[in-house]
Order: sequence, then structure tokens, then C-alpha cells
Amino acid sequence: MSHQSLIPQTPLESNEHEDHYNKICKDYDHLMETIPKSNGWRVEHLYNYNGFWINPIYIKANLLLHAYFKPQPTDIFLASFMKSGTTWLKALIFSTLTRHFYSFSDHYLHHHGPQSTFPFLDSECESYPITDFTHMCSPRLFATHFPWILLPESMASCKFVYLCREPKDVLVSKWVFMSKLREKDLPPFSLDEAFDLFCKGVSDYGPFWEHVLSYWRASLESSEKILFLKYEEVKRQPEVVVRRLATFMGVPFTAEEVEKGVVESIVKLCSFENLSNLEVNKKGVEKFGKVEVENCEFFRKGVIGDWRNYLSDEMKQRIDGIIHEKLKGSGLIFGA
Ligand code: A3P
Repeated sequence: MSHQSLIPQTPLESNEHEDHYNKICKDYDHLMETIPKSNGWRVEHLYNYNGFWINPIYIKANLLLHAYFKPQPTDIFLASFMKSGTTWLKALIFSTLTRHFYSFSDHYLHHHGPQSTFPFLDSECESYPITDFTHMCSPRLFATHFPWILLPESMASCKFVYLCREPKDVLVSKWVFMSKLREKDLPPFSLDEAFDLFCKGVSDYGPFWEHVLSYWRASLESSEKILFLKYEEVKRQPEVVVRRLATFMGVPFTAEEVEKGVVESIVKLCSFENLSNLEVNKKGVEKFGKVEVENCEFFRKGVIGDWRNYLSDEMKQRIDGIIHEKLKGSGLIFGA
């Protein structure tokens, strides 16, 4: 987490608020002129902000997050690298936490996309003033793609669920997703270009390995605050993961609930087969700041190993070699 905080030490008068915001805008403009940039996936350029390749909108959002977001100790964050299964985990976390409020025969998730269950913090901080979250019930849930070290120090006392996924599957999923959302005036974005950029660490919120390692190391330091999960383990043992999630969030399942099959009901409700076939996820749209995304774009195949249909042996070897090198000595492995 970053130690340099822009949070004012005392409450501000309204013109001081304006001055403070103007100062952030100046800092942002200065950053945009001075930090390195490279080719973007959805937008023209990504900028290297404190070691991470970030869409300019989210650099500004990160400055505003540091300045204005006030975490509460009971907040729970779902953090992930894009395309690691965030949508699925959102559904699982939400339905686990709210299991006493909805019936499984007529559930909130039958009528609303999983992305709507709780706010994506990065987009909510895109413009000033940032969204007011004070009305939310405790524990408040938020999602973010920011790496651990780009988050304000004040968030370190909160709980985090981090979700990662095998990088070749992330790359393919991200390329398909970003190609669809790519700004219309940009040239087409080939898989070869995406692959090359990914291997150089250049993709939104990348380098992938730095993102994953930032949370991995933090989770080793405080496992009671950071639950580190892999998409593949959720896929293999969803019931086990849901029980771990519930315990981690402070709402463990009772023996009676287990007996009644509540865990299985949550897993079934949030399964790819169920969610992707709901009308709301076939036709609905979710807004992230100014960007509209059809819910169906969050459900593609939902399988492990689809990269085999896209990447050559040579590509596999290059990316595996990079990941092996970058994760060496960390204790973190993929595909296990
Ligand atoms: P694929 O593109 O490989 O199919 P995110 O939610 O972080 O954007 O990640 C999207 C990926 O998670 C997509 O992967 C999507 O199909 C998959 N996904 C979405 N919902 C899922 C679910 N309920 N179960 C398993 N995978 C799911």
C-alpha cells in the first residue's frame, strides 16, 4: 500500500475543498505529461503509474480514492486482476453475505447482473465528488482492480478477498473482452499484439505478475485480513471455497444451514450455467463510469484451459517462462 497519502488532516472549508481538488487535477496533468505511456488495449494509451500500467481515467480515480475515500474497518474488498472471475466471486460473496434476506427460488441475482451487487470502487472514484457510500449497510462490499500497493494505507485494516487466475486464460479472456470494448476509432487489436504487450507487462492494471504478487505477499503477512483465492480452486471445489468465504467474512454457515444444503444452493445459483442463461445476463447492461458493458460480456466460456484454443506452443513457452521467472521464490504457483 502506498504511504504517500493525499488525505487532508483536518476537515476543509468548501473553498479549501475546491483548492484541494484543483491541486489533484494539477498533479494529474503533470503526471500525464511526465510518466511513460504505451499502447492500450481498450483505450489508445496506458500510463505507467508507480510501476503499473493504468488507464488514465483510473489514474485520476486513484488520486481521488486516496484523497476522498473513507474506509470503514468492517469494509470487505474483492480485489482481482481483470478477467480472473470477478463477476463470479461477486455473486458468491453477495449471496453468501445476504443469504438470510433472499430466497433461492426468487433471488436478487435472478433479476440483476452480478456486477450490480456491489460497487466497483475504481469507477465510483472516476469523477469529483466521488460516490458517497455512507448510506451503505455494514459490512460494505466493494470491488477493485487496483494492485495492493496503489491502495491507500487506510484500507490496510479492512478485509480483502483476492482472486487470481492462470495467466494464459486471463490473457485470452482479456483480449476477447477488450477487443469488444475497444474504442471504435482505434485500429483492430490482434492477439499477437495483446500477447506481446501482456508479456511485457503492459495491460490494464498490469504487469499481471506484479499485481498478483502484491496481494500474495500481503496475504502471507496477514492471512486473517487477506483471503487469497485462485479461479481454478473455486472451479474445482466451489462448496469448500464458499464455506471459507463465509468464515472469512465473519458469517460462517451453521450446522443446520449445511444440513439444509444452503452452501450447495449458493454454488448452484452462482454457477456459470445458471447465471449466463438468465435473461438479465443475456440482455442487461451495466455502466462503469462512462463505459457501458453488456452483462453477457462477463460470461464467455467459464472454463479452465481455453487458452489452448488460442495460443501456440511457442507462445505458451514464452509466457510460462516469464511467469516462472517472475514468481520464482514467492511460493505462488498457478495450475495447482
Ligand atoms: P472466460 O472469458 O475465460 O470465459 P471477470 O468477471 O473478472 O471479468 O472474469 C470473466 C471471466 O470469468 C470470463 O472467463 C467468464 O466467462 C468467467 N466467469 C463469469 N462468471 C462465471 C461463473 N459463474 N463461473 C465460472 N466462470 C465465470
